[in-house]
Amino acid sequence: MTLNIILLGPPGAGKGTQAARLEEEKGMVQLSTGDMLRAAVKAGTPIGLQAKAVMDAGELVSDEIVSGLIGERLDELGGETSVIFDGYPRTAAQADALDAILAARGRKLDHVIELQVDEDALVDRITGRFSCAACGAGYHDRYKQPKTPDTCDACGGHEFKRRPDDNEETVRTRMAEYRAKTAPILPIYEARGIVGRVDGMAPIDEVNAAIEAILG
Ligand code: AP5
Repeated sequence: MTLNIILLGPPGAGKGTQAARLEEEKGMVQLSTGDMLRAAVKAGTPIGLQAKAVMDAGELVSDEIVSGLIGERLDELGGETSVIFDGYPRTAAQADALDAILAARGRKLDHVIELQVDEDALVDRITGRFSCAACGAGYHDRYKQPKTPDTCDACGGHEFKRRPDDNEETVRTRMAEYRAKTAPILPIYEARGIVGRVDGMAPIDEVNAAIEAILG
């Protein structure tokens, strides 16, 4: 059965971490607008050039740009592929756009999974985060170190990087954006009866198990 799900939660809630687990364990595909935008910035495309300053400030990139990216990526996937929307939608306009994008492709939203977290702990999670420069596998200074020091578990790479927007000041702006523009879209999905809530402060494996229990 093809699934279309949204992982919703503030910065650092664990959306990317859990999406990677669902890719591994359930063969789903993660569609992260943050990753798409970072790839555009790295490649120096017109979208990347437009997005860079906005992302560095922790503000939101325009609804048209991110919805366009999502539509393009969905078209590259087969209609039978199950997808995880990570970091999208983030505004009411994006939620409306997603409905139209899915309907046009014969898809429908099955679950919106809210990762419930304690915001004070998130700054610590985000400022301790790093990833493999070669394959992008994610780690944390305290919660998820590579099994062999300085060596990526996934690809054996030895270079790691940190995101430019992972400093405390920008994280606070990202959280304010989440509270003001993203949290208010939850009632749209609650009215459809498709919201599942998971304790995002639990250990990574437990969060994964709770999500998979919702997916059935
Ligand atoms: P984006 O890349 O989407 O960033 P974000 O939403 O701020 O989310 P993060 O990637 O920071 O957090 P996450 O929830 O994935 O946490 P993670 O799993 O890494 O967006 C970046 C920017 O792009 C935005 O600010 C905006 O400018 C722009 N943008 C993107 N999408 C947009 C859109 N739709 N519209 C407009 N603009 C958009 O976990 C964090 C750390 O915690 C990791 O180190 C992890 O190992 C650790 N961790 C995870 N889970 C646990 C756990 N259970 N216990 C302990 N540690 C944990």
